[in-house]
Amino acid sequence: PLLLLLLAAAVVVSVSSAADAKSAPAPAPATVDIIGILHKAGQYAFFIRLLNQTQIANQIDNQAETSADGMTVFAATDDAFRNLPAGTLNNLSFQRQIQLLQYHICPKFYTLDELQTVSNPVRTEASGQDGQVFGLNFSADANQVNLSTGVVQVSINNAVEDNFPLAVFEVDKVLLPLEF
Ligand SMILES: *[C@@H]1O[C@H](CO)[C@@H](O)[C@H](O)[C@H]1NC(C)=O
Ligand SMILES: *[C@@H]1O[C@H](CO)[C@@H](O)[C@H](O)[C@H]1NC(C)=O
Ligand SMILES: *[C@@H]1O[C@H](CO)[C@@H](O)[C@H](O)[C@H]1NC(C)=O
Ligand SMILES: *[C@@H]1O[C@H](CO)[C@@H](O)[C@H](O)[C@H]1NC(C)=O
Repeated sequence: PLLLLLLAAAVVVSVSSAADAKSAPAPAPATVDIIGILHKAGQYAFFIRLLNQTQIANQIDNQAETSADGMTVFAATDDAFRNLPAGTLNNLSFQRQIQLLQYHICPKFYTLDELQTVSNPVRTEASGQDGQVFGLNFSADANQVNLSTGVVQVSINNAVEDNFPLAVFEVDKVLLPLEF
């Protein structure tokens, strides 16, 4: 019985290696799950809900998985949303809400070190009707990296995720663009 077992195992091995040889041995694409990452980190219920409602979560996952440049997301905490003046979000049209979320996303992977020396303005996924891309400005000293939208300034300290293709940094303010 042992020999039979070994034979059976050998057959399974050779069949599966033949199958492997047929399908091209492409490197397995990274699987990105922005909602899973934020959910695990906690304190992003609001941001998650907006990303999900607008389908932007899927776009982030797909783009991070397929783009050679990767992605960076500045994730606004629940406190950040609570600290917005009452009515700010509700006053935004659905289109504006999408722009607001896109303004929290850069179509390139940045580490915290790279943000210290990046040249301004940094492109985001948000743009106006004229096609003008909304930018973010970064400044850094030995101690910290600051992000400015022209309206809001936040310090970037905590990387929630920093493995290519996706970087996620915590921001404790919602990044309202100058353009609004
Ligand atoms: C995303 O939205 C769908 C329906 O629009 C809902 O079923 C799902 O639970 C939501 N997921 C999260 C993580 O909020
Ligand atoms: C929301 O819109 C109302 C009516 O236009 C306005 O009075 C209010 O100031 C707005 N609130 C914010 C936070 O923009
Ligand atoms: C970053 O922001 C903090 C707090 O607003 C400020 O004290 C610091 O000087 C800023 N640093 C840079 C490099 O902009
Ligand atoms: C970024 O800095 C440039 C040059 O200082 C300035 O013209 C632009 O308005 C700034 N943009 C933001 C979003 O702060």
